[in-house]
Amino acid sequence: MEKSIVSVSFVCLGNICRSPLAQGIFEDLLEREGLVEKVMVSSAGVGHWHVGAEPDARMQKTANDRGISLQSRAQQIQSSDFRGLDLILAMDQSNMDALLHTAPSDSAREKLKMFRSFDPEADGDLDVPDPYYGGDKGFDLVFNIVHRTCPKVLEYLREQHNI
Ligand code: 4NP
Repeated sequence: MEKSIVSVSFVCLGNICRSPLAQGIFEDLLEREGLVEKVMVSSAGVGHWHVGAEPDARMQKTANDRGISLQSRAQQIQSSDFRGLDLILAMDQSNMDALLHTAPSDSAREKLKMFRSFDPEADGDLDVPDPYYGGDKGFDLVFNIVHRTCPKVLEYLREQHNI
């Protein structure tokens, strides 16, 4: 039987820059497409350092300037979270390595994909660069990558889950 709600989560290191942006952009897309009731979006970090924090002020500004508001609060992914998720997207390879380690089973590991495997301009580079220790240009670059890739993720979900 077709599941009525599909659940996707974006995962980075701290859950204050890249994955909250992906969540915000994806939520905006779902609203535009009238799919808010069909797809659940979340984000998380593989690290615990920022749990409870709002997105990094630099990421919020970059997003706000482009019409996207970020509402998430940082959380750390737990192995028990895998059960409720259909698709888990790692923002870089080190996040993927941590997720492979955290996943409780082979079927959980099958839910993992690299976010940029959906990026039409990835050109072999599957990491969304970590902007945390860099300047504003890093945040713009992250925005552009995530903004062009999210619609491709949605296309994939539509095909996979008939929505
Ligand atoms: P994010 O960025 O993984 O995109 O949220 C980072 C946030 C915090 C740190 C590193 C990356 N940190 O080292 O605290």
